[in-house]
Amino acid sequence: MFKSLAIWLASALTVSAAGALNYTDDNTGISFSGYFDGEGYTIGLAMPENPSTDLIAQIVSPLKDGEGWGGFDFGVSMAGYLLIVAWPNGDDVVLSPRMATGYTTPSAYTGNVTLTPIADGTFINSTHLSATFLCAGCITGNSDSFSANETNAVFAYAYSTTAVTDPTDSSTELSYHTAGYSAFGMTLAYAKSADYDTWAAMAKTTTTTPSGNTTIPSNSTTPGSTATPSPTSQPTTISNVTYDYIIGGGGAAGLVVAGRLAETGASVLLLERGGPSTVATGSDEAVSWNSSITPYDIPAMDYYLASSGVSSPYCTDTASMAGCVLGGGGAVNAMMYVKPQDVDFNDKWPAGWKADDVRKASDRFFSRNPGSDMPSADHKRYDQGTYNLLSSFLGKDGFSPVKPLEEPNRKVDVFAHPPWLVENGLRGGPVKTYLPQVQGLSNFKLSMNTNVIRAVRNGTWVSGVEVEKQDGTHEIIRVTPNSGKVILAAGTMSTPRILFYSGIGPADQLKAVPSTVKMLSPSQWIDLPVGEGVKDHPIITVTLGTKNNGTLTALDETAFTAPDNTSISMFDRGSGLLTQSGQRLNFWTSVVSPSDGKTRFLQGTCNSPSSNMVRIKLYVTHGLTSSSNLVLDSTGELTQFTHDPWLQTQGDIEAYEGFLARLIAMAGRPDSTLTLQLADGTDAPAGINATALLADLRSTLTPGDHFVGTAKMGPDDRRRGNGTAVVDDDTRVYGTDNLFVVDASIHPDLPTGNTQAIVMVAAERAVERILALDGMAVGQPAAGNRTGAGKAPGVGAKRVPFRQCRGCARGLAGRRHALKDLHDA
Ligand SMILES: Cc1cc2nc3c(=O)[nH]c(=O)nc-3n(C[C@H](O)[C@H](O)[C@H](O)COP(=O)(O)OP(=O)(O)OC[C@H]3O[C@@H](n4cnc5c(N)ncnc54)[C@H](O)[C@@H]3O)c2cc1C
Ligand SMILES: *[C@@H]1O[C@H](CO)[C@@H](O)[C@H](O)[C@H]1NC(C)=O
Ligand SMILES: *[C@@H]1O[C@H](CO)[C@@H](O)[C@H](O)[C@H]1NC(C)=O
Ligand SMILES: *[C@@H]1O[C@H](CO)[C@@H](O)[C@H](O)[C@H]1NC(C)=O
Ligand SMILES: *[C@@H]1O[C@H](CO)[C@@H](O)[C@H](O)[C@H]1NC(C)=O
Ligand SMILES: *[C@@H]1O[C@H](CO)[C@@H](O)[C@H](O)[C@H]1NC(C)=O
Ligand SMILES: *[C@@H]1O[C@H](CO)[C@@H](O)[C@H](O)[C@H]1NC(C)=O
Ligand SMILES: *[C@@H]1O[C@H](CO)[C@@H](O)[C@H](O)[C@H]1NC(C)=O
Ligand SMILES: *[C@@H]1O[C@H](CO)[C@@H](O)[C@H](O)[C@H]1NC(C)=O
Ligand SMILES: *[C@@H]1O[C@H](CO)[C@@H](O)[C@H](O)[C@H]1NC(C)=O
Ligand SMILES: *[C@@H]1O[C@H](CO)[C@@H](O)[C@H](O)[C@H]1NC(C)=O
Repeated sequence: MFKSLAIWLASALTVSAAGALNYTDDNTGISFSGYFDGEGYTIGLAMPENPSTDLIAQIVSPLKDGEGWGGFDFGVSMAGYLLIVAWPNGDDVVLSPRMATGYTTPSAYTGNVTLTPIADGTFINSTHLSATFLCAGCITGNSDSFSANETNAVFAYAYSTTAVTDPTDSSTELSYHTAGYSAFGMTLAYAKSADYDTWAAMAKTTTTTPSGNTTIPSNSTTPGSTATPSPTSQPTTISNVTYDYIIGGGGAAGLVVAGRLAETGASVLLLERGGPSTVATGSDEAVSWNSSITPYDIPAMDYYLASSGVSSPYCTDTASMAGCVLGGGGAVNAMMYVKPQDVDFNDKWPAGWKADDVRKASDRFFSRNPGSDMPSADHKRYDQGTYNLLSSFLGKDGFSPVKPLEEPNRKVDVFAHPPWLVENGLRGGPVKTYLPQVQGLSNFKLSMNTNVIRAVRNGTWVSGVEVEKQDGTHEIIRVTPNSGKVILAAGTMSTPRILFYSGIGPADQLKAVPSTVKMLSPSQWIDLPVGEGVKDHPIITVTLGTKNNGTLTALDETAFTAPDNTSISMFDRGSGLLTQSGQRLNFWTSVVSPSDGKTRFLQGTCNSPSSNMVRIKLYVTHGLTSSSNLVLDSTGELTQFTHDPWLQTQGDIEAYEGFLARLIAMAGRPDSTLTLQLADGTDAPAGINATALLADLRSTLTPGDHFVGTAKMGPDDRRRGNGTAVVDDDTRVYGTDNLFVVDASIHPDLPTGNTQAIVMVAAERAVERILALDGMAVGQPAAGNRTGAGKAPGVGAKRVPFRQCRGCARGLAGRRHALKDLHDA
């Protein structure tokens, strides 16, 4: 059984054995209060009656063939909190304090924390690891932990039954595949005991295990992150084939761009860091019951992708979650498909990119990718309990039904059956609608498992790209002399790194580039605000209970993860539950924030993870003003945020409060069918106000995974004053002749809904602009001299052999693995 954060509430409420737990450990006699996950993982805490900085913790985590690790985090999500991890090293237990800055493998914790084992509770047996230790300095009173005077705290746990990379290294990488990951809240009083001091005295730096073997005492300050630079000792070879267009990144935008450019007959090379996501593109990860379908294809499985058995779907060196597989975010996302409303473009996009300017591109895109709110071929909707209950609840407060794919501009007080990018009952998108159209063409080549390191630049001219291939060797691939173009489409989390490595960005970032990268001299650097002003939708989770027990029956998650024969045979005919993604109702509204008078939109994405409760993932969307900066970490290899991009401004907070006030009133109506709950699942106290409710629900804040703006488009070129733009209105990087960015990085604003639709519409528009520079247009074959075959001898003469990608190398960070949680953004 696997879990993810997205279904935490479901698991906490439906798995009867899981939940809060008080117990006295037989081995040590210590009384703990904590959480049992229902499947073998237990976390217990013991605290003094008057805590200051210390507590005792016990992690009991399942092992498989003696391998695995277990950890817990002093906060609701992995990033930004003290995290303690334990794993076996032979018969010993290693303890390691960590701090994750993003969704990459967490690096060493730099605070003053000392972990000292309690021998009798620290051992490995045939089924489990048990780590019991004094956690000195762990109650920091800072944002990375909790304060001694708090009555409740929220924690998260994660564990895996796959070994860490190097068990002898206390700063080792953790294995990616987590067997469990979830969060829980605790009443700290239950953990407090007058016997604490006696128990704490059992902690000794050197001791013996019950089996008589010496444990490794863990030190407070583990060595700093020892990320190993990628091997560059191999000589970099230079390819003797050139291309009119080289595109770096085969995600949502990159595939649209590559497909449209290849249709003109120009020679096109698409470089994708990850492996295939579908059987048609070479994946061997088909589900057991259908050899032509992978978990990526199945709408109902998108909430559970992280535990579906597919290898390496996510990037492991980025500040937040991103897909690193063919299709990018479009392959790993939850298929929400919200057609942009006009104001999404009209507010902040530059001239030439307003709603009317992108109309043709938008029509072209949607005619190939219509999406659907009724994906089942039998024209039925399945599992409609949530929709029925919630639509009537919202209807009583003036919300009305809308068809979001047909009426995109109606975004105030409306609700809908969720619009999905599902076609023929399967995940849709450009892997299905742009790639097959060009894959047989001799002028098109797709190279997977190929990581773009940098653009090779001399002054304003980019002659090609340096790539790292799966075997670790490096190659320079060039564009056609005098006319070729390089287009970066590696996504908001990764395109900035390629720009930094190409000598483009703020000087402090360019100085942080690792020495293993061949860097231009400072006289060649281009000072542009790459990474500055990154924005994302925040998501908080609001749960509501049904007033009449039994009125809402939720399906067990196994209906999606282990479908029965009826579901499978319907799916084979394009119908049934499996053709639907996980959401059951969407609503949209707006709030004018009092402090700045600005309108902000909100989206609710709703389902029922367990019976008799409704879950609203509530996003603040278009109009929000919070942002952060994306920078390189100390190794220069990972991207990270300088601070959280979410809820940094009063206006954004007020947008949530405005809607929550309305929700409190709605739930309080005498005829309301739903009751409002706090983050811990208990009923909200009568008379609670929006400020107090938001303060409570902030613990549920997760990223929206809708990042934009790390290489903004605009007329305000930073090199001429205080501009914020990195690319011009042709999507060309300022200060270069032929380097372009076409992905969510260039979006100067966040849309009202989930981002994939607007990302691909903007990519269609970008192709128009790029082709126009060469006197060409979308859909028109190139004139005479632009025939790909002559430019790129040998390319595409035969179809590219697809590589298998089990355990394939992941570029710069090699085998860097990470914990993941899945957002239904
Ligand atoms: C977990 C998750 C859930 C989401 N849910 C939704 C949703 O339900 N609906 C919605 O509309 N949006 C959703 N989104 C957002 C949406 O998927 C993204 O906005 C969209 O995919 C962005 O497109 P892009 O082309 O900018 O980047 P991406 O789609 O991320 O594509 C970037 C591509 O570049 C590749 N790449 C990265 N670095 C390199 C390199 N150095 N060399 C070569 N290739 C490289 C990556 O492997 C990837 O294929 C979700 C995103 C995530 C992460
Ligand atoms: C291993 O230790 C754990 C923790 O004390 C315990 O729950 C489990 O039953 C033990 N397994 C065996 C086989 O003794
Ligand atoms: C670290 O914490 C310990 C107590 O846990 C304390 O004695 C020590 O002074 C602290 N050291 C620093 C440098 O703060
Ligand atoms: C709790 O302690 C923190 C510092 O650790 C302090 O900022 C806060 O004001 C305290 N709260 C109460 C209610 O005492
Ligand atoms: C744990 O103990 C406290 C009393 O200390 C009690 O109120 C609480 O209900 C107990 N929790 C469980 C899950 O038994
Ligand atoms: C002690 O450790 C050694 C080597 O790590 C191992 O071979 C031995 O079996 C262990 N002893 C016991 C009793 O577990
Ligand atoms: C702990 O630190 C001490 C002193 O810095 C060092 O000698 C010892 O090797 C360290 N132990 C581990 C397990 O890292
Ligand atoms: C870069 O361009 C300059 C001027 O065009 C030229 O003199 C120089 O040789 C080039 N350098 C390289 C490494 O190609
Ligand atoms: C709701 O009903 C179910 C059975 O339908 C029962 O198991 C559960 O205890 C009930 N819950 C409450 C709060 O009454
Ligand atoms: C909201 O409720 C909290 C806690 O009850 C209270 O302290 C605060 O003053 C209230 N705020 C408003 C605006 O009523
Ligand atoms: C490229 O170079 C390789 C090795 O030198 C050679 O085998 C191949 O034929 C060349 N291809 C083209 C198109 O020139």
